[in-house]
Amino acid sequence: MKIAFVGKGGSGKTTLSALFIRHLAAAGRPVIAVDADINQHLGPALGLTDGQAAALPALGAHLPQIKDYLRGSNPRIASEEVMIKTTPPGTGSRLLRIVEENPVYATCARPVALDEGSVRLLVTGAFTEEDLGVACYHSKVGAVELLLNHLVDGADEYLVTDMTAGSDSFASGLFTRFDLTFLVAEPTRKGVSVYRQYKEYARDFGVALRVIGNKVQSADDLAFLRREVGDDLLTAFGQSDWVRRLEQGAEPGLAELEPANRAVLEQLRATVDDAFAGRDPRRYADQAVHFHLRNAESWGNARTGIDLADQVDPEFTLPVPGGRVARGQATVGV
Ligand SMILES: Nc1ncnc2c1ncn2[C@@H]1O[C@H](COP(=O)(O)OP(=O)(O)OP(=O)(O)O)[C@@H](O)[C@H]1O
Ligand SMILES: [Mg+2]
Repeated sequence: MKIAFVGKGGSGKTTLSALFIRHLAAAGRPVIAVDADINQHLGPALGLTDGQAAALPALGAHLPQIKDYLRGSNPRIASEEVMIKTTPPGTGSRLLRIVEENPVYATCARPVALDEGSVRLLVTGAFTEEDLGVACYHSKVGAVELLLNHLVDGADEYLVTDMTAGSDSFASGLFTRFDLTFLVAEPTRKGVSVYRQYKEYARDFGVALRVIGNKVQSADDLAFLRREVGDDLLTAFGQSDWVRRLEQGAEPGLAELEPANRAVLEQLRATVDDAFAGRDPRRYADQAVHFHLRNAESWGNARTGIDLADQVDPEFTLPVPGGRVARGQATVGV
C-alpha cells in the first residue's frame, strides 16, 4: 500500500508520517519509509541523529544505477540514458517488492531500528534553493516516481512517503501514484487552503484524498475543519504533549502516546487497508503513460533525441499480489 502525507509547511506531515510508520512497525507490518520532502526531516523523526541522517545515500544521486536496474531486459528501453523519470515498466522490466533484497535497496535504502521493529528508509536528498523549479529538483522527486511505477506491493505491506506539498508536487505524476493521500491540516484558514488547492489538482485523476486534522485542541477546532473540509475529513490528531516531549529530546515509547491519538493511527491503518479493494492496475498504468507522454512531449523527446512514446508497453500492468501477505515472509509471492 502506497501512502503519501502532504500538507502545508509545519502542519505535521513528518510527525504524523513517522508516527504512522512506527504504528505499522509495531503491528509487525513491513514498511518502507520515503522522505520526499524539501525539508528532509523523516530520518531524525524516526530517531536518527543528524549525523546519521546526513550520511544517508540520496536517491537523486543514484538515478543512473536505479534506471539501469529497473529497465532490466525491457527491449523498449535501450539504455538508462533514454529512461526518464516517467518511463513506465513493461515486459522485461525489473519490478521492486517491499520485502526483498535488490541492488536499489542495497545502494539507497538504510535500515532504521525502531523500538517497534525495523523499517527501511529511502531519501530523495536535500533540495537546494537552486533545485527548486528546475529539472534537478524534479529528478530528485522523479526517483520516487520511478520506484512507485515499478513497485509491486500487496495488502499488509506499506510504503509511506513524507511529501512536499504545493504546486511542485503537481509538476510530475507523483501525486497520482498513491493508494491513499493523507493531507495534514491544522484548523486554520491556511491549513485548509492547501487542501482546496490539492483537491482541485487531484480531482481529475481520481486521487483518493483524506484530511487528517492536526494540533486540534477543541470542539471548535474540529467543527471548523468539518465545515471547511466536509466528508474528506477522516479524523483529527490532537495537540499532543507526547509529541512535544519528543521535540524536547525525550524518547517516549509509542505505547505512551495519548490513547486518542494512538486510536487515530489505528484508524489510518484501517482506512489504508480498506483502500486495497479500490485498486485499479489498469488505471494506474494508464496514468503512468499519460504523464510519460506529457513529459516526452514537453522535454523528454528533445533531451533524448528519440520518440519516448515508443517506450510504452500498452498491455502491461503491474501485478497485484492477491490476498494478504504472510508476515515475515522473505519475498512476496506475485
Ligand atoms: N499533534 C501535535 N502536537 C504537538 N506538536 C505537534 C503536533 N504535530 C506536529 N507538531 C509540532 O509541529 C512542528 C511541525 O511539525 P512537522 O515538522 O511534523 O511538520 P511538517 O509538516 O513536516 O513541516 P515541514 O513542512 O517543515 O516539513 C514540530 O515542532 C512538531 O513537533
Ligand atoms: Mg516535514
